[in-house]
Amino acid sequence: MERTFIAIKPDGVQRGLVGDVIKRFETKGFTLVGMKFMNVSKELAEKHYDVHKERPFFSGLVEFITSSPVVAMVWEGEGVVASARKIIGATNPLTAELGTIRGDFGVSIGRNLIHGSDAIETAKTEIALWFTPEELVTWQPVVNPWLYE
Ligand code: RTP
Ligand code: MG
Repeated sequence: MERTFIAIKPDGVQRGLVGDVIKRFETKGFTLVGMKFMNVSKELAEKHYDVHKERPFFSGLVEFITSSPVVAMVWEGEGVVASARKIIGATNPLTAELGTIRGDFGVSIGRNLIHGSDAIETAKTEIALWFTPEELVTWQPVVNPWLYE
């Protein structure tokens, strides 16, 4: 089953939006398989944002994500990588559609609340970076027959 990496960034935690964010993935029908509340080391932040290391905003990204705790999660379900990106919305919250997390809760690109893996391969890399295999729980929600035919 497909999995994706989701992180509620420091702004989402500080603004008290952890419950709202988790609720959207739960009510959609995805399965939580890993979750931890943590401070992010500079080393982890630099690895996570490695793809952006040549961009002018790279140091700001690392500084921000290490500034205050985050909620790191792994969610599972058919098509979860692309669907989570839709639930999250466009990178800039000002142009993100209403009904998405960023569209409903944010106003600026540097405070866009949440990270979601952008492709299945990226998700695999990010999950391995943030979680050990023992931290992930494989389980069968009893509602699955009511979610999938
Ligand atoms: P994310 O990785 O956080 O899920 O966001 P994303 O795919 O929608 O956006 P991405 O291009 O991967 O950028 C990563 C994060 O960098 C910040 N950003 N700032 N100042 C800028 O032009 C700019 N562009 C991107 C955003 O916080 C974005 O989430
Ligand atoms: Mg991205």
